[in-house]
Amino acid sequence: SPSDPALVERARAAKEKLGDKVFVLGHHYQRDEVIQFADVTGDSFKLARDAAARPEAEYIVFCGVHFMAESADILTSDDQKVVLPDLAAGCSMADMATAEQVAECWDVLTEAGVAEQVVPVSYMNSSADIKAFTGKHGGTICTSSNAKRALDWAFEQGEKVLFLPDQHLGRNTAVRDMGMSLGDCVVYNPHKPNGGLTTDELRAAKMILWRGHCSVHGRFGLDSVNDVRARIPGVNVLVHPECKHEVVAAADYVGSTEYIIKALEAAPAGSKWAIGTELNLVRRLANRFAPEGKEIVFLDRTVCFCSTMNRIDLPHLVWTLESLAEGNLVNRIQVDQETEAFAKLALERMLALP
Ligand code: 13P
Ligand code: SF4
Repeated sequence: SPSDPALVERARAAKEKLGDKVFVLGHHYQRDEVIQFADVTGDSFKLARDAAARPEAEYIVFCGVHFMAESADILTSDDQKVVLPDLAAGCSMADMATAEQVAECWDVLTEAGVAEQVVPVSYMNSSADIKAFTGKHGGTICTSSNAKRALDWAFEQGEKVLFLPDQHLGRNTAVRDMGMSLGDCVVYNPHKPNGGLTTDELRAAKMILWRGHCSVHGRFGLDSVNDVRARIPGVNVLVHPECKHEVVAAADYVGSTEYIIKALEAAPAGSKWAIGTELNLVRRLANRFAPEGKEIVFLDRTVCFCSTMNRIDLPHLVWTLESLAEGNLVNRIQVDQETEAFAKLALERMLALP
């Protein structure tokens, strides 16, 4: 829907007043009304790097979700303030792994005698506590654009990986990109004693996948792929690696949001695409590439926004920018120092991946 012109003007004026003091980052899943004010847009990896590359900005306004703002705070200097326009913009996947559960899991691995062979690899979509756990135990962070490189690195350090918290990204990367079999992967369920696994299963596994998932990408099924192929002959199916393994296995291309955009930029006129990721991004891409004769549709017939990404709307952005312009620091995201030190270690290992 078109944004309210009065709010657009207020956001513009407040941003102009702040000038170089503010830098606005926008994740690809953000609404159009918010994206229009982003100084840069990107996937989780690009935004983490971009946040760290703006030392002159006093305020980093992060239009995305809580774990992204935490990562930006970890990677920026102490006098830079990271602001999340709505504190309720969390991520249900990140919430699926708590510090207590992960500590308990490590105890289970220790009891089974495998902990010393295990390297944790945590998806960016996790809390700062989980990133700190990862750093403390010699592991790295990954995003959907460098998961293979992170796993290559991890298997140089140890024999097994504990992959947190997205089982699908872990399984898809292991099987699709690393040549492992489904049987090399086991799923650790934090709600069951010993994760629901026997000692023998833990000893045999190469990939121990945390039982977490994205509720947005989890809605796509094999039916979505079969339906769209029947509906649109010759369609290219392109999905995000947070989708279930059966969806990824049936797709033609798989990649992060940044990869999806690049693939569509490079696509020839007249080509047809069904995209399996969040709907704000797919709609924006469909509108952007329609004049070039590229037909882009959403993979499923049902509507599929990320509800927490959508919490950041124009009214929240206006309130944030106007507050900062008046000298009121609102909604600051600040990770405590000890957590930050270990989480930073894990994030820096990711940034140093070849
Ligand atoms: P990327 O932007 O890294 O592809 O991640 C998708 C996502 O789910 C972010 O929450
Ligand atoms: Fe979390 Fe999924 Fe939303 Fe990304 S799309 S923020 S993983 S719930």
